[in-house]
Amino acid sequence: MTKKIKGFIFDLDGVITDTAEYHYKSWQKLADEENLFFNREINEQLRGVSRMDSLDIILNGKEVPAEKKKEWADRKNAYYQDYLEEISKDDILDDMEAKLNKLKADGFKLAVGSSSRNARKVLKHLQITDIFDTIADGNSVENAKPAPDLFLHAAKNLGLEPEECVVLEDAESGVEAALAANMGAVGVGPEERVGKAHLVYSKVRDIDFDEILKKL
Ligand code: BG6
Ligand code: MG
Repeated sequence: MTKKIKGFIFDLDGVITDTAEYHYKSWQKLADEENLFFNREINEQLRGVSRMDSLDIILNGKEVPAEKKKEWADRKNAYYQDYLEEISKDDILDDMEAKLNKLKADGFKLAVGSSSRNARKVLKHLQITDIFDTIADGNSVENAKPAPDLFLHAAKNLGLEPEECVVLEDAESGVEAALAANMGAVGVGPEERVGKAHLVYSKVRDIDFDEILKKL
């Protein structure tokens, strides 16, 4: 990384808030109803992965007509949206809101780069929509993570070059997308999941932006 860092792109699920449990419960409910094999271990593979790609991972090669797949994905999403009704500001991870406010006050551009088509709804419930200069979500681009498209779209909307941006991600597919976009990559989570990132923190509260600015 040679250029000066001017902006940060935050993944949402797993970095700003922990909705993974709600995604898990919603897929589990659908899987139980449709007799599909599913458990927490499989759920771990769905981090950062789009809704339809997630269903394909669960189906594990099982052939299902497209119409039925759409109905199943829609049903899972309806369960997930019910859970979202319960989330509030209290569901922001650790001191993430203070960290975002500090970065904003220091003049950095801030974006959300999430695979979720529910990202705006989640941000609204967390009451932090306005902190971000732009929101790139599952509706913004065609190619999902690990393709770099979503993060490149966010950088463009921020008016920044990819090399001026740092991505924070909790998913392997997201770290790969950040690297493919030629951006700084900060992993949040265990080494075995996000170890390919330039810098890794195990928890949100450990993220040190002074260190990131020094090291990337
Ligand atoms: C990501 C989650 O943020 O969004 C994935 O990590 C999820 O687990 C994906 O599948 C898509 O979310 P949605 O809300 O569009 O179904
Ligand atoms: Mg995530």
